[in-house]
Amino acid sequence: MKAKIAIAISGGGSNMQAIHQAIISGKIAADLLWVSSDNPQAKGLAYARQHMIPTLTLPYDKGRAEAEKILQQQIAHQPIDLLCLAGFMRLLSPDFVRACRDQYRVPIINIHPSLLPKLKGLNTHVRALQEQHAEHGCTVHLVNEALDDGPILAQYSLNLAEKMQENITADMLAGEVLALEHQLYPRVIAEFAEKFNAGKIDLPSQNVKKYVGI
Ligand code: GRF
Repeated sequence: MKAKIAIAISGGGSNMQAIHQAIISGKIAADLLWVSSDNPQAKGLAYARQHMIPTLTLPYDKGRAEAEKILQQQIAHQPIDLLCLAGFMRLLSPDFVRACRDQYRVPIINIHPSLLPKLKGLNTHVRALQEQHAEHGCTVHLVNEALDDGPILAQYSLNLAEKMQENITADMLAGEVLALEHQLYPRVIAEFAEKFNAGKIDLPSQNVKKYVGI
């Protein structure tokens, strides 16, 4: 039985596209069941529709509780084995994270554009340059009740000190880190799917960390 995943986006969905392309090419042994977004105008939704992937818009205009209720119903009716946040700009409530972990037994993972636990939150590339970090990069982590705080599954890094010598800008750095994300996220999901399909991953989700880590 192949792992079933879903992806939540807010914008361009380039990570979602990288994951989907890795599924199409056979690198990820999983099925992408649906893509959800808090933003009905998200460009990533257009990609999903072009590729016949079911989409779901979350009604955050009616408040977080209503949006999360719709997401919980979707998970209940279209069960998945992994929820991947990919450029999803909303903070999930602790109740929702706990319901996923304890009731639906669905791990939630996220990709963040920094080497956590450094630079939690927004504007990571500007901050990395301003604070002159020697290294920078991206992290895939389990989502828990706090922001950018769950157990780290995998990271890719680059030598920022070297790039600062070459006067890299925040925009150029964002592009380089995004390219690393497009490699890291599919690798982590492929490893999860491989172990899940082999029956080697026992949930609840905190156990996922035991099996996935590059
Ligand atoms: C990017 O800045 C990425 O670093 C972060 O979310 C933003 C949008 O990603 N994960 P995507 O293109 O929507 O996947």
